[in-house]
Amino acid sequence: METIQTVSSMKKTVAEWKSEGLSVGLVPTMGFLHEGHMSLIRQAVSDNDRVVVSVFVNPMQFGENEDFGRYPRDLDRDSAMCAKEGADVIFSPPASEMYPSGFCGYVDLAAMTDGLCGAKRPGHFRGVCTVVMKLLNIAGPDRAYFGQKDAQQLAVVKRMAEDFNMDVEIVGMPIVREADGLAMSSRNSYLSGEERAAALSINRALAEAAKLCGGGCRDVRHIKNRIKAVLSGEPLLRVDYIEVAGMDTMLPLDMLDGRALCAVAVYAGKTRLIDNVVLEA
Ligand code: PAJ
Repeated sequence: METIQTVSSMKKTVAEWKSEGLSVGLVPTMGFLHEGHMSLIRQAVSDNDRVVVSVFVNPMQFGENEDFGRYPRDLDRDSAMCAKEGADVIFSPPASEMYPSGFCGYVDLAAMTDGLCGAKRPGHFRGVCTVVMKLLNIAGPDRAYFGQKDAQQLAVVKRMAEDFNMDVEIVGMPIVREADGLAMSSRNSYLSGEERAAALSINRALAEAAKLCGGGCRDVRHIKNRIKAVLSGEPLLRVDYIEVAGMDTMLPLDMLDGRALCAVAVYAGKTRLIDNVVLEA
């Protein structure tokens, strides 16, 4: 498993592949890989001749009081997991390589990032879009893979690729869950046993929402109230937001009509967890 740390060497490797007519897939991650990431990597390996997995804990997308410093890292383990799935290269640049002195550019997707996680994490999506734009320019992939777990991120990255006429297909992949329903996340490693047990209510609450919608409910306020009721049954959980938004616009909805994203962010102790379900009205 080759690990590349510089932009120039990553670009050179990809240029060689392209000169041989090989297709390239990119899976951007922040590492500490789990089955959710692996599902993206597996799809990338099956769709492309060569696959780059980037492992970069991007300082630009973390807020002042967020967990950048303690975000879990284990590059050796990540590397072994990628090798096993048949990825070709891990791109893990130091922050100084991605943001050298004098760096001042950014990409901002405006209205699409005003709501949901964007409202709660000011500057987060600017950091995500900027680093993803950079990774796409560096690795020049034919396809890049993102999980529906971070539904707003997926929608925003799709929009960015379209708005900026980028020659890349953004491939969205379904949420991978633990056997008991908890959405997989690198941040689950922060949870105590009790917090983890409480966090199971998140998926349960979203399932209730889907059931209400399936039963004909179109009133978003009613759906949000049901979610709130389920979550408030767990004293260890604190709701950050409960939102229903247009799938592509990420703008809040009052009534369901077609497909909509029902997304929540919930604190279990100090750990912020996100999850979502697509409602089909
Ligand atoms: P990270 O949280 O490491 O996630 C990397 C990719 O894996 C994202 O596209 C995310 O949606 C996907 N993913 C995470 N958990 C998943 C799950 N349970 N099921 C399916 N997919 C899952 O998201 C980021 O990193 C960063 O913001 C990044 C895009 C790399 C930019 O820094």
